[in-house]
Amino acid sequence: MTTHQLFQPFELKSLKLKNRIVMAPMTRSFSTGGVPTLQVADYYARRAQGEVGLIISEGAVVNRPSSSYDPDIPHFYGEKALHGWKEVIDKVHATGGVMAPQLWHVGVVAPGASGWLPPAPFEGPSGYVAAGKTGGVAMTENHIAETIRAFAQAAADAKALGFDAVEIHGAHGYLIDQFFWQPTNQRTNGYGGQTLVKRARFAAELIRAVRNLVGPDFPISLRVSQWKLQDHSAKLAATPQEMEAWLVPLADAGVDIFHCSQRRFWEPEFDGSDLNLAGWAKKLTGKATITVGSIGLSGDFLAAFQGEHSIPCRLDELMRRFDRGDFDLVAVGRPLLADSEWTRKIREGRTSELVGFSKNTLATLS
Ligand SMILES: Cc1cc2nc3c(=O)[nH]c(=O)nc-3n(C[C@H](O)[C@H](O)[C@H](O)COP(=O)(O)O)c2cc1C
Repeated sequence: MTTHQLFQPFELKSLKLKNRIVMAPMTRSFSTGGVPTLQVADYYARRAQGEVGLIISEGAVVNRPSSSYDPDIPHFYGEKALHGWKEVIDKVHATGGVMAPQLWHVGVVAPGASGWLPPAPFEGPSGYVAAGKTGGVAMTENHIAETIRAFAQAAADAKALGFDAVEIHGAHGYLIDQFFWQPTNQRTNGYGGQTLVKRARFAAELIRAVRNLVGPDFPISLRVSQWKLQDHSAKLAATPQEMEAWLVPLADAGVDIFHCSQRRFWEPEFDGSDLNLAGWAKKLTGKATITVGSIGLSGDFLAAFQGEHSIPCRLDELMRRFDRGDFDLVAVGRPLLADSEWTRKIREGRTSELVGFSKNTLATLS
């Protein structure tokens, strides 16, 4: 098996990557009071030094009173936090890296382990965390408009600070995904409805607003997933036709890259084909895609959160799909969290030096 194909450059609009390896967005909660520290900047710079092609930041929340459930998740608004992000991108660039922030709003969620609550109730399309389970308020049309503006402003700030692209977090059962998903979107006023296309209106308007502020040449990635933290077996699109009807309007609104989150990248999305979510997204939209989910590690990340130890494993199946052209980029989470040198080790074939992942790796920002 060879992996040199992953080390071909990639270009999309103003984005120029030296290889196809992406650091997956991973919340670390080391940004006290929402402000990324110098330690956070060093953590990302070490991954750039370790040859990661594109770093996507941990989810950074936009300027809404209840966009976060943890005070140490970084903000992507306010003078202090943006100054912290400036340090991050300058350090990453100084070590030859390329980086996009992931912009996030958690929507209606259960409070975090600490019990901390934001200054306003959690907000979402209908106030539901999951089917029939309330946990916040239904957004008014004004709230929706303000939220769209907050995402667009954060994206414009990312560009102004010097970031190379932006990712919008539309996955995993958080705000944007709560609009996509019928059990959490029971609206009847135009941002909801019986079809996924109707429930995608919020995301489409948000992407269009981001595109208007960042201009035509700045790459926008949208992270999507079928699965939700609230329901691992959820499926937004049951068929390729539904998936096409969902994603094509988002591509038309301005998405350049679909970051297709699965827990296990090798799982086929629909019967009758072995294509995964990223494979289908690329086939149906013609846009660039990123695959992710247990690449190079045994066990998926939610099992790892429960305490399961993951060990390094081979990349043959990944390379089979990559060589077939199923996706353009390959995102790696836990391996890069555990080892900033993962990319270099793969390039140099130093597989015996790869390390596993266990939950205690999360305790420090190394
Ligand atoms: C500690 C941790 C934090 C995460 N935080 C985020 C996040 O902020 N945004 C997001 O989209 N995904 C998040 N994820 C999911 C990862 O981006 C990735 O999809 C997942 O870990 C699967 O990749 P892996 O198997 O290579 O770890 C997180 C995962 C981990 C392990």
